[in-house]
Amino acid sequence: MINLNALPLVSLRSMNEVHIEEVYIINRLFENLNTDSDFETISQTLQNLLEHMQEHFSSEEKIMRELHYPSLQMHKADHDKVLNQARYAEIQWRNSKDEDELREYLEGDVVAWLDQHIKAMDTPMSDYVLEVSIK
Ligand SMILES: [Fe+2]
Repeated sequence: MINLNALPLVSLRSMNEVHIEEVYIINRLFENLNTDSDFETISQTLQNLLEHMQEHFSSEEKIMRELHYPSLQMHKADHDKVLNQARYAEIQWRNSKDEDELREYLEGDVVAWLDQHIKAMDTPMSDYVLEVSIK
């Protein structure tokens, strides 16, 4: 589970809101796994997470493109990497139905990634967006 109080916040509220939504979905997936939900329920939540990630990333990338953000390529590369991992994890889940494997993916990849990505990528992006929109 991700503790919402420990989620790093950026300067733009709209970005924080999207991150919080994503944490809700991640935590719902943890809850599904912890309460032995059935395959369809877990698959649906995992699907929701993938869709949310896709939308979340493409909306950030749209803003970065429009505002000619200098680190767009680096930021987008991190999004692409995580989206590929998530797609792979979903295929693995559907094939193996292995709850431990899915939990390992969430704990090992997603949780650490989100914290690190917000600090290293989203924070400077958010500050840049604020700065150019004031000008
Ligand atoms: Fe991002």
